Amino acid sequence: MTMKLEDEARRQLVEAATQVRRWAYAPYSNYAVGAALLTDSGKVYDGVNIENAAYPTTMCAERVAVFKAVSEGERRFVAIAVVTSNGGTPCGSCRQVLAEFGIETHVIIADTAGNVVQEATVADLLPGAFLPSDLARE
Ligand code: THU
Repeated sequence: MTMKLEDEARRQLVEAATQVRRWAYAPYSNYAVGAALLTDSGKVYDGVNIENAAYPTTMCAERVAVFKAVSEGERRFVAIAVVTSNGGTPCGSCRQVLAEFGIETHVIIADTAGNVVQEATVADLLPGAFLPSDLARE
């Protein structure tokens, strides 16, 4: 079931993602990303992209936020806001990681001017996702 996200919750998440973006470690791309993930217990876990001189070792902001939450016992997510300078969208790997924990999680994509450029569910962003149910035994 898709839950409606309240305007105030959306505003707060975008604000949190915008604020945390300052901690992005992106010396190679100079593309700072901030993410803020709202759990169904009402907590917010934030994350930033963390780049590496060995480029593929870089980790995206969205996955940092999800992994922080999961490593503290949270697995049910209501929404994630992702903020970049130009409203860029979450990469495929981040979509897959989000799908693992709920295909109906809202994804709010915003820019640093505060504009929400897109809002969709993970299901919208990753049609045909490979899910835990695909591993169910016959
Ligand atoms: N990046 C994210 O943090 N999230 C995304 O979904 C897209 C890409 C980061 C990774 C890298 O540090 C920089 O943006 C450029 O790809």
